[in-house]
Amino acid sequence: MKLIITRDYEEMSRRAADIVISHMVQKPDMVLGLATGSTPEGLYQKLIEAYRGGTIDFSNVRTFNLDEYYGIDEDNDQSYHYFMKEKLLDHVNIPMENTHILDGMAEDVHAECMDYERRIDEAGGIDLQILGIGKNGHIGFNEPGDVFIRRTHLVDLDQETIQANSRFFTCKEEVPTQALTMGIETIMKARKIILIASGEGKAEAIYRAVKCEIHPMVPASILHVHPDVTVIVDEEAASKL
Ligand code: GLP
Repeated sequence: MKLIITRDYEEMSRRAADIVISHMVQKPDMVLGLATGSTPEGLYQKLIEAYRGGTIDFSNVRTFNLDEYYGIDEDNDQSYHYFMKEKLLDHVNIPMENTHILDGMAEDVHAECMDYERRIDEAGGIDLQILGIGKNGHIGFNEPGDVFIRRTHLVDLDQETIQANSRFFTCKEEVPTQALTMGIETIMKARKIILIASGEGKAEAIYRAVKCEIHPMVPASILHVHPDVTVIVDEEAASKL
């Protein structure tokens, strides 16, 4: 696990964007794993700037998102479909058929999850996966638990996660309590992983992910056994290391 501590959010975003950009230049048809949340917004902005400046071209890139809320339509402005379009996909030249996000309205959830795994495999696997981290150490929506759940699945969200997500919704009743997420093995199969985190609120999660032993109660701790993980955190998120 390689650790990069940056001065601030801006530098964290730039360092992460530099890695994605150099990968995309070397492999224009790369398979990119995307994350949602506030943390990658700066990184996505930098990718948009690099695209506008002619450094990168998304026409052959394929993307797979980590997760999506369950029971939320993709046109809902709180869906991760909506977020990805607004923050990245609508601003670059990626063909929409190259973008993949789990269907939160799928009637047959099991089939949707299996099909997602199949689509990732058919694309040749994920070359580079971007990850954020939840305050409870989750990656994607893999919540702390007794075991690591390997494949893409439906998950009941933790109270802490529901609480953290509630800031985006107008009332408590609207906050989704379930989500579809790539599993731990789905994430770990990515050839390269970048985990980004910013701010004091993530310091405990980063401490537990980086310093503690591997345990499903800290889902991000599994990253220790991945051969190519770069953790990029600003000074505040690194403050407990
Ligand atoms: C959600 C997403 C995660 C993300 C986390 C942190 O739970 N499913 O993928 O890492 O939020 O979000 P933020 O970056 O807003 O702190």
